[in-house]
Amino acid sequence: MDSRHTTCPSLQGRHILLGITGSIAAYKAAVLCRLLKTAGAEVRVVMTPLAKQFITPLTMATLAKNPILVEFFDPENGAWNSHVSLGEWADCYLIAPATANTLAKMATGVADNLLLTTYLSARCPVVVAPAMDLDMFAHPATQANLATLRSRGVRVVEPEAGELASGLTGKGRLAEPEHIVEAVTRLLVPTAKSLEGRHFLVTAGATIEAIDPVRFISNHSSGKMGYAIAGELAARGARVTLVSGRTALACPEGVERVDVLSAEEMYRAATEAFAACDGAVMCAAVADYTPEQVSATKLRKGDGELVIRLRRTHDIAAELGARKEGRLLVGFALETDDEEAHAEQKLARKHFDFIVLNSLRDAGAGFRGDTNKVTFIDRTGREPLPLLTKREVAGRIVDRIEKLLK
Ligand code: C5P
Repeated sequence: MDSRHTTCPSLQGRHILLGITGSIAAYKAAVLCRLLKTAGAEVRVVMTPLAKQFITPLTMATLAKNPILVEFFDPENGAWNSHVSLGEWADCYLIAPATANTLAKMATGVADNLLLTTYLSARCPVVVAPAMDLDMFAHPATQANLATLRSRGVRVVEPEAGELASGLTGKGRLAEPEHIVEAVTRLLVPTAKSLEGRHFLVTAGATIEAIDPVRFISNHSSGKMGYAIAGELAARGARVTLVSGRTALACPEGVERVDVLSAEEMYRAATEAFAACDGAVMCAAVADYTPEQVSATKLRKGDGELVIRLRRTHDIAAELGARKEGRLLVGFALETDDEEAHAEQKLARKHFDFIVLNSLRDAGAGFRGDTNKVTFIDRTGREPLPLLTKREVAGRIVDRIEKLLK
């Protein structure tokens, strides 16, 4: 397998200063540190005093193979821990997890611990990966602090949505260590920008068709496959417009996301974007039918049956296919039976250049998971791929797109 684009480029010899703050997610810093080391980076770790309550300096020192820095000086011998030289040493200062408190202090220039003085004197790129409760993350104060930091060039690895330590569910969970390492790698290791100057539309996620203000019709799509493709296209230098139905995923770095709910909204956003694009990857799970009428008020239950009349939605892919005019169009087919035949019909009917078939009958393929087993089908034949991560599949799809563009 050609791994140029699908695995993280090495961080060989890069100096990463890892800052850990007092969040319950600090335990993930251990995995993060290991991944950085595996990628070849040299890692030094600075912790806030509170972070020591969440993960021990011994654990981190063992993994980093370097002593941990917490205090301004060593109380035993008075040796000074120079924040200036730490900042000079680092190629990247990665603060993960970053609490609301530390982000607020960074935004206002408070310097009451070594992690923060190092931030103020660091000249290298700074990356923060916030982790906190959903309400703390959504609070206007936190959002304003993040906006301030972004405006000063700090990269933010968006937290992910999911179950939080508080027991609540929402956006605030530290991004997966793999995603954080990827963001650092993208920052430090320039990849070949093979798609520079190209513009792609990607549709992803599930659409939502309202029945009334409370209920809707949707499907199990997680959006993971489409987001991985959008991220891969952007990583190779393309401009990417991601028209996204509902997902819990963070927008991949460098991607412009347009959020939509219904198939009708997705149709409008996709057709508008397509005109300016070199191609599109249609990955969204679009509802084929939508309620003919949406009740303005909550439907009340009665004794008898309820009949909801549905009407067809636009087949977005087919409509783009009909007006592609030299643009590249890639489609997906998720099938449960007679897979190849159905995919081939869609390939022809929607004027796809190639279609990515996955079957719900294959273990490891389909919704929600991080793996997929796909077959590429075009007018010349079929290419089955082994079980791969969705990221790897995205790499293969974009490799194919690149070949077709040449
Ligand atoms: O016909 P089917 O829904 O199986 O086709 C799947 C392909 O068509 C996918 O690429 C999907 O994103 C796209 N599609 C679409 N609009 C629809 C239905 C499917 O863009 N209304």
